[in-house]
Amino acid sequence: MKDPRKRHFTLAATLLLCGTLAAAQPRDTLRILAIGNGWSAEVCNRDLYGYFAAGGQPVVIGYATRLGSDYARQAELARSGAADFLYGKIVEGHLTETPGVPLDQALGDERWDVVSLQTQSAQAARRESIDPGLGQLVKYVRKRTPRGVRLMYFQTWPYARQSTKHWMAFGHNNVDMYPLLAAVSEEFSRKYKLEVIPIGTTIQNLRSSFSMQGDVAHADHLNRTMGSYAAAATFYEAVTGRDARELTDAYAPYTLENHIRREMAAKCAHYACMNPFGMTNMASGTGAYGSAEAGLPNYDETKVPAYTLPDPLVMNDGTPVNSVEKWEGERRAELLELFRSEIYGRSPARRAGQHYKVVLTDENAIGGMATRQEILIYFDESEEKYIRLVTWVPNGLDHPAPGFLMMNTSGNASINEDESISYPDAQQLKNYEIHGFPRYGQSRHFYPLELILSRGYAFLSFYKSDLDPDFDDGFQNGVHPFIFKEGQDFPEPDQWGGLSAYAWGCSRVMDWLEEAQTRVNPRRISTIGHSRGGKTALWAAAQDTRFAMAISNDSGCAGAALSRRHFGQTVRQIQTTFPQWFCRNFIKYMDNEDALPVDQHELIALIAPRPVYVGSASGDMWADPKGEFLSLVHARPVYELYGIHGMPSDQWPDVRVPVIGDHMGYHVRIGRHAILGYDWVQYLNFADKYL
Ligand code: GCU
Repeated sequence: MKDPRKRHFTLAATLLLCGTLAAAQPRDTLRILAIGNGWSAEVCNRDLYGYFAAGGQPVVIGYATRLGSDYARQAELARSGAADFLYGKIVEGHLTETPGVPLDQALGDERWDVVSLQTQSAQAARRESIDPGLGQLVKYVRKRTPRGVRLMYFQTWPYARQSTKHWMAFGHNNVDMYPLLAAVSEEFSRKYKLEVIPIGTTIQNLRSSFSMQGDVAHADHLNRTMGSYAAAATFYEAVTGRDARELTDAYAPYTLENHIRREMAAKCAHYACMNPFGMTNMASGTGAYGSAEAGLPNYDETKVPAYTLPDPLVMNDGTPVNSVEKWEGERRAELLELFRSEIYGRSPARRAGQHYKVVLTDENAIGGMATRQEILIYFDESEEKYIRLVTWVPNGLDHPAPGFLMMNTSGNASINEDESISYPDAQQLKNYEIHGFPRYGQSRHFYPLELILSRGYAFLSFYKSDLDPDFDDGFQNGVHPFIFKEGQDFPEPDQWGGLSAYAWGCSRVMDWLEEAQTRVNPRRISTIGHSRGGKTALWAAAQDTRFAMAISNDSGCAGAALSRRHFGQTVRQIQTTFPQWFCRNFIKYMDNEDALPVDQHELIALIAPRPVYVGSASGDMWADPKGEFLSLVHARPVYELYGIHGMPSDQWPDVRVPVIGDHMGYHVRIGRHAILGYDWVQYLNFADKYL
């Protein structure tokens, strides 16, 4: 064979462990060949190998794939003997790939026990496309493989939203595509007596689970964390008949350390194998977040466990902190370090070559009230990655404007109906995986620009996904790689997740404010944010003291809410649904909050002595309004070091009774999870006093 390229998996840990298992239960080597296109090659990866290895089942895994091909094309290429397949083979954890191989050569290379057949992903949902290709292929393969070979139908999965052109044909909807694909696989696997590898059903099961607010598939590809793991579990169970759920401890790759996610993946795979042509609804609990999978959230104040909060004014070694000098000189750094290494992850410094371009100026925005600009903040010389900052600065001020910096979560265009705001191009939308294109001004009620501007404040905003598209892709896209060393492609346990990337972006905006001559005063900027944006606002201000103030709106778990209260969203739940936000070390604290070396009151404390405001909503129990309030109360001792009194009372106030203390503010608005006019009015009043 020509041009074999060797790639090595790093399976050291797995192999070690499987060595023991394998010794206990020696088994014959299984030889599996997957024929198809890129989708088969994608699944024949280190997770598939690892899963078998963990099960003590020696395997040789091969794939013979032709890009984009369906059954008809594969049958034709087979018949003509075209040297057109990519032949990959994993032996003892080592992958070798050889391009330009005829199919019969791959078939003859080993005594295959199992051969799977996979058609092109869109054709998989079109019954008229399957025959005669599949029939011909079955015949062709049987002729060239040992008697008793098991032929299997490799079920592909329905697309994710930002998929190829084929997606259009299915109404952009995996819920519609799935039954077609399942029915086709059922009909033709029966017709040709093929067993089934029901990966499509596994993926759809996962999509039905409440935890998957994101997706495990992006465009055509499974993500390398849970998607890849779930496919491997399915393949393993379909081929061996052994329950994939039994291996979730034995096979724990570094790409999926969260055991709850492994269990969920294997569970969905198991149900798919039991019921390969129909979904098993995994969201069996009570409502969107209430599924039994992650434990019911607690909304009962009497069930809040007894807890002891770590003391912000005691050093790790037990010595008390009783002066501003000791706080600023020693303890602050210690706390920052703990938040970095255990929760959000470490960020890199700004990159060499950071630079800025003002690409748009409109002096007559919002009916003439403001000048609107768009500024590209390029992270380095390459200009590959950047933030598109949009700013509205009030016209006619006689001083540099104070302002709010707010990361937005639906795109700059969603802020206002002004259609001169740049809209992301098709490629950007694809990268962001925006589900449903935001309309201009779609979220305008979150951003009352007229009100903000009329009070003399500038408003600055950027879209979160300029830093990190907000889904679990195994920390690959966005700015993640900025922290990787040569050859590294996955973060260390203490390296940044999405929230740190967002906060890092806030600091890059501050760089621009400081370095460019603008009409905004960099010394008078408050971070502000709603929900994940609120978490970001606090973390950005905690780290970067150039921000003069911070406002958290409904930031909840990993924002202002105390984790130890176990009320509403928990450390476990948030990482099951949003693993992309945190560093991997945070996994250690799922169902184990007492072991956290910090709690969120210390995040607030890190903002001291600067003013901080926390807003909650009465209908947002998920974010634990009372826990958000208590963080302020328990941060107070640090403010007191500065002679600042903080919250005047420890009593959680009634709804609609804002409590403004010394450098601290708090309110509970009536209503749902959102940032609304009522919230802004309180924030503006507070800013008038302190910013
Ligand atoms: C989810 C998530 C919260 C987060 C929120 C948001 O509800 O569970 O932690 O704050 O999304 O960002 O809107």
